[in-house]
Amino acid sequence: MVCLGNICRSPLAEGIMQHLAEKNGLDWQIDSAGTGNWHVGEGPDRRSTRTARNHGVDISRQVCRQFNKSDFNEFDLILVMDKNNLSDVLAMAPDERAAAKVKLLLGNKEVPDPYYDDSQFEPVFKLVEQGCKDIIKPHLILPGREDF
Ligand code: 4NP
Repeated sequence: MVCLGNICRSPLAEGIMQHLAEKNGLDWQIDSAGTGNWHVGEGPDRRSTRTARNHGVDISRQVCRQFNKSDFNEFDLILVMDKNNLSDVLAMAPDERAAAKVKLLLGNKEVPDPYYDDSQFEPVFKLVEQGCKDIIKPHLILPGREDF
C-alpha cells in the first residue's frame, strides 16, 4: 500500500487490509510505504489513527517508511492511492514484470489526499475500505460468504 507520506492513506489501507485478511483466514503479508521521506520513522497521522480506531482497526503501531526498489521483489501486488503515486512508483520499476505489479487501489479512481482537510479522513476510510474489499473478494475461499 503506497501513498505520498505514508502517514494518512496507506496506513489506513494497510490496517484495513490486514484486518480483512485476518477475519477471512488469509495469511497475507501486508505493508505500506510512502514515495516521500518526510515522515520516515513516525507513526501514522493521529487523524488516521483515530478514524481507524472508530472502525475497530488499530494502526497505532505502524511506522512510516519510504518505498524502495526491493519492494518490487518483496510483494506480488503494489497498490497505490493516486496517479502521482502511480507514476512515482512506476518510474522506479526495474522491468515490465515489476511494473505489472503496480495498480491503483480503486482501479481507475484515486483516493484523495486528506492531509489538509480534517473532514476527509472518514470518507477516505470508506473509499480505502471499499477498495480493499474489492481486492480481497476474489481470493476468498467461499466467495459470497466473506466476513466483512
Ligand atoms: P498521505 O498524506 O500521502 O496520505 O500520507 C500526506 C501526508 C503528508 C504529506 C503529504 C501527504 N506531506 O507533505 O508531509
